[in-house]
Amino acid sequence: MAIPQHFLQELLARADIVEIVGRYVPLKKTGANFSGLCPFHGEKTPSFTVSPSKQFYHCFGCGKNGNAIGFLMDHTGAGFVETVHELAQQYGLQVPEDERSPAERARAAEQTEQRASLTDVLARAADAWRKQLKASPRAIDYLKRRGLSGQVARQFGLGYAPEGWRGLASVFPDYADPLLVESGLVIVSEDDEGKRYDRFRDRIMFPIRSVKGEVIGFGGRVLGDDKPKYLNSPETPVFHKGRELYGLFEARTALREQGYALVVEGYMDVVALAQQGLGNAVATLGTACTPEHVHKLFRFTDHIVFSFDGDAAGRRAAHKALEAALPLATDTRSVKFLFLPPEHDPDSFVRAEGVEAFAQAVRDAVPLSRFLLDAAAEDCDLQTAEGRSRFAARARPLWQLLPTGALAAQLLGDIAAQVQIGTHELEQLWGLRRTPPARSENNSYSRSPHKAREPKTPARAVAVRHAPRRAPSPRVSRALQIVLTEPSAWDRLTQSDQGLLCDLPAPLGALFTWLAGQHLEHGPQPWSALREALRGHGHEAFAVELLERLPPDIESDAEELSRILTLEHDARYAAERQRLAAAAAAGDTAAYARLREMPVTRPR
Ligand code: UTP
Ligand code: MN
Repeated sequence: MAIPQHFLQELLARADIVEIVGRYVPLKKTGANFSGLCPFHGEKTPSFTVSPSKQFYHCFGCGKNGNAIGFLMDHTGAGFVETVHELAQQYGLQVPEDERSPAERARAAEQTEQRASLTDVLARAADAWRKQLKASPRAIDYLKRRGLSGQVARQFGLGYAPEGWRGLASVFPDYADPLLVESGLVIVSEDDEGKRYDRFRDRIMFPIRSVKGEVIGFGGRVLGDDKPKYLNSPETPVFHKGRELYGLFEARTALREQGYALVVEGYMDVVALAQQGLGNAVATLGTACTPEHVHKLFRFTDHIVFSFDGDAAGRRAAHKALEAALPLATDTRSVKFLFLPPEHDPDSFVRAEGVEAFAQAVRDAVPLSRFLLDAAAEDCDLQTAEGRSRFAARARPLWQLLPTGALAAQLLGDIAAQVQIGTHELEQLWGLRRTPPARSENNSYSRSPHKAREPKTPARAVAVRHAPRRAPSPRVSRALQIVLTEPSAWDRLTQSDQGLLCDLPAPLGALFTWLAGQHLEHGPQPWSALREALRGHGHEAFAVELLERLPPDIESDAEELSRILTLEHDARYAAERQRLAAAAAAGDTAAYARLREMPVTRPR
């Protein structure tokens, strides 16, 4: 998977960053450079500069900068490898693929081709349905009654799939084409005859687009009260409900202008809000919000407001969204939760109360910190010690999902206050703080990764857990990048190296431990396989973000990894000595004895 550096350089030399950025951001020539409004933060005067000579962009407002590959990754939400491949294709270059077998390469090419044919078929259906909407007074009337103008209908490419079992036969002369089935447009009946028919009939059609603007699926609504109210495209190679957000492509400019994303539950909510001037709404597709959804949104904005219906189902959905958002809630980002009155969804709310009332509700939305406390306190009687303990037990798994930062630190204090104990006490209780060790024979330097999965006794946890929840240093993040992308790297590490990595504070340590398990079960695997294994896993968002955010300097080698590990072992040794010295100074004779056995520098 390692793409050679020389190729990246060639690719960057060939690709024109002005042209690439210009596809997404209107640019004006200003002297030797080009400038425009920064797509990464809301601004009114341009501080975003693109340098054709350096082939680099830089925003003087938010500090974001990078080359064409980084820009495309941030802008389209695609990963590094995918971006390189796509860019190479656009510029007629062949990515040297040293590590993929010919069979793998053929499969990848086939997949790319299949994706293209699928999105092509879907785009043709969308076009046809858009035209058919114009010819259907009944469908037009329905949209008008829901308050939509022709302009908004056009913006979202709304269409109408007419009645009849084979309406699409007039669009696709070869109705038996397997692509029609693969794209989810046509269903083959289960009976012996295997008859084919259109999935969407007599429905208002909402095309779902990828962030690149390709049509990847549809939602279709009945015009009356029939059931099911909405029908969605099935999962296909181009459409994954857990990853896509309806309206994201259409919302990109508004996200920048409004400065936040509003996540709602329905197609109609997105379109109705856009009609009212709130073009920054997106919807999950009838599924719970996933970390991948949140991750994708955070590529476009640092502020997310989730809106939920005020009923029990809305509350459940909010819990899911909370869990999805927590691992990504860094200190520069904000996440809020808006609960509408039970009788309303965003569409009916703006129409009943007006857009200003809705905007006020957004401003009054509950911050993530408070919602976490509320969610943990549900069904807990905080008047009793038992109820407060139960609250603590429920708050813990949520709090642990937060990344290191000021928010996590403050929330810890808030939780402790609710439990009516000191913050230090809570830290000890949760194994986050070292107490003077009773006596421990465990030498944390030689623990094997298999043991990392055993439940830890308190004494052991004390010996193993060093300062908790430290932000992963770039150094260990880099180590993780190397072992995730170089399949053989992990097995070349010593047991003590592996133990060290598995013992790192969460979430890094947990990810290494997971990786150790993968190696035990399956042996070395390429990143593509690990990526699949991670899908839906608790560490997924973190791992993907880490890999994609790190500098795309992917010429990693075993030597770099061993250099990193040496530094980590040294740092850890020094920290351990310091800890023992402090304990010894406080009168701990056992610590003093151990300290005396440890040379000042780590023995090699
Ligand atoms: P709602 O039932 O809240 O519908 O479903 P809505 O968005 O308010 O629709 P309108 O206003 O009556 O037109 C919310 C979302 O749940 C999914 C759809 O994604 C819908 O937008 N859903 C709902 C389905 O997938 N199938 C259904 O039958 C109903
Ligand atoms: Mn509705």
